[in-house]
Amino acid sequence: MSAKIVTLQRHIMEQQSLHPEASGRFTRLLWDLTLAVKLIAREVNKAGLVSEIMGAAGTENVSGDQVMKLDQYAQDRMFKAMDHGGHLCVMASEEVEGIIPIPEEFPLGHYVLLFDPLDGSSNIDANVSVGTIFSIYARKTRGRQGGTLEDCLRRGSEQVAAGYVVYGSSTMLVYTTGNGVHGFTLDPSLGEFLLSHPNIQIPPRGKIYSINEGNSPYWEAGTKKYIQYIKEKDPASNRPYSLRYIGSLVADVHRTLLYGGIFLYPADEKEAGKLKAKLRVTYEAHPMAMIVEQAGGRATTGTQRILEVEPKSLHERVPLVIGSRDDVLLYEEFFQGKR
Ligand code: AHG
Ligand code: MN
Ligand code: MN
Repeated sequence: MSAKIVTLQRHIMEQQSLHPEASGRFTRLLWDLTLAVKLIAREVNKAGLVSEIMGAAGTENVSGDQVMKLDQYAQDRMFKAMDHGGHLCVMASEEVEGIIPIPEEFPLGHYVLLFDPLDGSSNIDANVSVGTIFSIYARKTRGRQGGTLEDCLRRGSEQVAAGYVVYGSSTMLVYTTGNGVHGFTLDPSLGEFLLSHPNIQIPPRGKIYSINEGNSPYWEAGTKKYIQYIKEKDPASNRPYSLRYIGSLVADVHRTLLYGGIFLYPADEKEAGKLKAKLRVTYEAHPMAMIVEQAGGRATTGTQRILEVEPKSLHERVPLVIGSRDDVLLYEEFFQGKR
């Protein structure tokens, strides 16, 4: 007997019934979001064939990253899908410096959306998996005007939903509204996301570590000691860990969520005397932390739970160590000098 076919829309409706206070507004927000990511998937999947969306757009974003044409396309798709539904009071994106107001011709809504329209975009020209990441809050400020920066700069634990799409060998959407983590695979013939990974639980410990070893000379002492330790032997089975690093956060976290293990983008001192992190709190670390913790894992800066971090600016960066609970706890012991 084949498993019952559950579409993403039906699953969202079922999730909504778990939130008695939620009206259909939240459900329609997620429906609009899935339209945007289906359009992005269509472009990503033909990127190799359509030269005008390959390559760099010739501009830099606020984080100083080179903007790829597909970054811009994904940004436009997300904005145009989300600006008119009446579910949002404000948006923010990796590709836009300030907050993105809802155009005044459209109704305002109750929610706040922060997103990374295309994650891992430096990989797109090499046909390596890329993704989209989103984080959703309920509005905090009162009043009849649009949402503000205050609505966007929140503790991660206030998120009402978080998710990502990985555009890989298949297109998968993984999301949580605080009741577990659920994965859907896009059936291109139907144009529907179908439930393929209900109630994802991350293994308590893994055998894979994922980090850019190219930065190893510049890591802090605790990070160096931890990586050395797991390269020598796996704490549980006395075998060394394997290294897997794709360079797209969505792809590396997705593999970590399904297989277990640990992903690390710690701070490094590549610029002499300047300890810097790379990943952004609002549209990378916070949503990934909600998802992985909902799946039974853990996400830390090394000294603080990622979901307790409250950013002071939209594009603030933070060290991110995320994955299987026991692996991340062991990292924290090394990083905090307890081993
Ligand atoms: P984005 O493409 O949205 O700017 O994100 C890129 C990020 C993230 O996807 C990945 O984990 C990290 O950059 C890889 O950085 P390195 O190339 O320095 O390893
Ligand atoms: Mn990114
Ligand atoms: Mn991006």
